[in-house]
Amino acid sequence: MIVVEKRGPVGWIVFNQPAKRNALSNAMWRAIPEAMRRFEADPEVRCVAFRGAGIEAFSAGADISEFEKNRSQKASVAEYDDLLDKVLHSIQGSRKPTVAMIYGYCLGGGLEIALACDLRYCGQSAQFGIPAAKLGLGYNVEGHKRLLETVGHAQAREIMLLGRRYSADEALHMGLVNKVFADGDLEAQSADILAALAANAPLSIANSKTIFEEYVKAQGIPDAEAMRAAIERCAKSEDYQEGRRAFMEKRKPSFRGK
Ligand code: COA
Repeated sequence: MIVVEKRGPVGWIVFNQPAKRNALSNAMWRAIPEAMRRFEADPEVRCVAFRGAGIEAFSAGADISEFEKNRSQKASVAEYDDLLDKVLHSIQGSRKPTVAMIYGYCLGGGLEIALACDLRYCGQSAQFGIPAAKLGLGYNVEGHKRLLETVGHAQAREIMLLGRRYSADEALHMGLVNKVFADGDLEAQSADILAALAANAPLSIANSKTIFEEYVKAQGIPDAEAMRAAIERCAKSEDYQEGRRAFMEKRKPSFRGK
């Protein structure tokens, strides 16, 4: 589940499924927009922060054990991607500054949430990646877009095509995170940053966020149909079944491009 709590001027959303490295179940995804709505409407909340329970993981991404049920048929894949869009827009569309505080694994959907935040700070232990190509998964449009906006084409392509994991220092070098701290310093450093954000003028922050968003929107209109079709092709594939089964059975997948 997610834990939603207010600590002073900071609204915290904590991913809490430690036995699965804080993987995000459908119920957890669904709870995020409501938490964001609450924080948005609460004038005492001046910034919103995300973290995982404990220090092993921010989140290891979407809960793969639910894929067979929630993310295998064409209709359910589209529904799932719509839910993801809603979640990410609720974060990215917030007028308040948003921060991801990252220990340990930050993978797939976990990284997507972090990328929807304004700022990302991590501990030295953090590891980043989007292993869609290791699961046969057709990663969603918004996720590609945010990655591209954050790290540019060269890095975004490597991250997606190799699907490998990157250390905190590599993530810093690629521009995936704003700063890396020693694990033991991350909480105190993040607290200082959150306090500084909370003390700044909310309308100035909202103004900058609006302008950044509008500039991003202004960059041409992609072919939505072609992108949707590419994702569906993965969703219907044998490789995608193979990818998620191999993960559950703890073996290497064997992909055939079908
Ligand atoms: N969904 C569901 N379960 C997950 C999960 C996920 N995304 N990530 C980890 N888990 C579960 C594992 O199945 C395992 O469960 P078990 O104890 O019942 O066997 C438990 O969490 C611990 O994971 P394990 O792989 O044993 O830990 P690790 O420290 O060796 O490796 C990860 C951690 C995160 C590197 C590895 O679990 C992993 O690669 N997870 C999948 C990441 C991924 O593909 N995310 C993208 C989804 S779109």
